[in-house]
Parts: sequence; C-alpha cells; structure tokens
Amino acid sequence: MGGTLYDEIGIGYGNYRRPDPRLAIPIVAALGQAASVVNVGAGAGSYEPTDRTVVAVEPSVAMIRQRRAGSAPVVQASVAHLPFRRGAFAAALAILTVHHWPDRASGLHELARVARERVVIVTWDPATTGFWLIDDYFPEIGEIDRRILPAIDDFRTVLGDIEVRHMPVPHDCSDGFLGAYWRRPHAYLDAGVRSAISTFSKLSDVESGLARLHSDLANGTWTRRHGHLLPLSEIDLGYRVIIGRSASGARP
Ligand SMILES: C[S@@+](CC[C@H](N)C(=O)[O-])C[C@H]1O[C@@H](n2cnc3c(N)ncnc32)[C@H](O)[C@@H]1O
Repeated sequence: MGGTLYDEIGIGYGNYRRPDPRLAIPIVAALGQAASVVNVGAGAGSYEPTDRTVVAVEPSVAMIRQRRAGSAPVVQASVAHLPFRRGAFAAALAILTVHHWPDRASGLHELARVARERVVIVTWDPATTGFWLIDDYFPEIGEIDRRILPAIDDFRTVLGDIEVRHMPVPHDCSDGFLGAYWRRPHAYLDAGVRSAISTFSKLSDVESGLARLHSDLANGTWTRRHGHLLPLSEIDLGYRVIIGRSASGARP
C-alpha cells in the first residue's frame, strides 16, 4: 500500500490526539451489546473498547506504529476493500475518518457489508455553522471540510434509517481534533497542535489567520467577541455519532 496523508502528518499524532474519556461514553454506548467490532481508520486506536473483540483496520504505517502494545490486532488496509467476509463483525466503527476516504459512499457500503448488527460513525456535520475558528480566522477550513465531509443525508442514503446523536466537546478535551480547543484559543497558535489536525495541512495560507488570531488575543478582540464561551464547560460544534442499525447487506 502506498504512502498515505497520515504517513506524512500522522507522526506525533498520539501526543496531541489522546482519547478523551468523556467522548468514549457516547461512542461505546452507540456500539450497544455488539460483541465484535471492526474499527476502520483506527489510527492509534482511540476509543477502541477493551471489553469485546476488536480488529483494527488502518492504512498508514505511521499510525499503526503508534498503537499501544497490547491494543487490538490491526490489519493494514483501506476501507475501499475490507478483507473480511460479509457480516464478519457485529459492528463496524469509524471515528473521524470518513472524510479521508477516496470514495465515501463505497466505504460506507463496505462498513455495512462487514457489520451484521450496526454501523457507528463519528463525524462532523458540514451543515453546522458558528465556530469562531473557522468564521473569523480560517474560512478555508470550512470550505475544505464542507467539501469532503458527507452530509447527514449521505449516511441515510447508504445506511437507511439512522440515529444521529450530538457529541458535545468538553472545554478541556484531550483529543486535539479541530474543535477541541474552542475554549483554549491560544492552543491553535501551537504548530504541534495544528500538526495533529489534518485540515491545517491542506490550507493555502495559514499565516494570515494565525497573525489575526495572535493579534486578536493580544488586544482583547477575541475575548470581546467570544468571551461568552469561557464559562461554558462543553458546546455542540457539530460532531455527531451516527448509528445505522440492520445495515444494508449485513446478512450473516
Ligand atoms: C483523524 S484520523 C482518526 C483516527 C482514529 N479513528 C481516531 O479517532 O483517533 C483519520 C484516520 O483515517 C485513516 N484513513 C485515511 N484514509 C483511509 C482509508 N482509505 N481507509 C481507512 N482509513 C483511512 C487515516 O490513516 C487516519 O488514521
């Protein structure tokens, strides 16, 4: 398998993308009683349950190398061709990975094929608006992410009836994805933080947004505009847990 984006940007991912136990709760709840789980786009293994059989699928060697000793066995593969028979697992799980897939719809069909009970996906709803980082500093992030993240209806098209649950982001979230630092704006000035957020690597211009953020933080503009966020302990930024039950094609 050739090099992937995450072979370039994934080194050091584990330092900034530590699974947050509060986010683990809705993810594990969405898996229900599923006794076996395939975690596709598994990365370093965040949120993999330890109380049932798990097999991880991950194309990037850099990410596989960051899996902890004793974590679930991993197969180096792409969602495009999951090397498992139809209905091989009770559940398929895909966390913050769908937008990286070359063909999102066929990847979702693959999840549905190998899962006999349910498909659980964590994603960002591209219909969401109102995050200051995108609106005020990096509008190009919104343009890129809205192009690559499936709409909620796209999940419906493949998975049929789905349940969509909100996944609020705690103010001190330890998993440093794009929205994790909504109450810690200085964090985005840190190159290490940005290196663990894939969309930053795709921007044509990071510097002007950074300069604006730096100066707004220094002169109080950020606090004037967004200080109302500071007393909040969590907010909804558009992250969603999508549950598809009785996935199409999931006959054992
Ligand atoms: C943001 S990371 C998420 C990793 C992990 N699920 C987590 O929550 O920490 C996205 C992952 O999707 C993987 N990925 C990219 N293209 C993929 C593909 N075609 N099939 C499966 N996984 C893919 C990347 O290598 C990367 O590990």
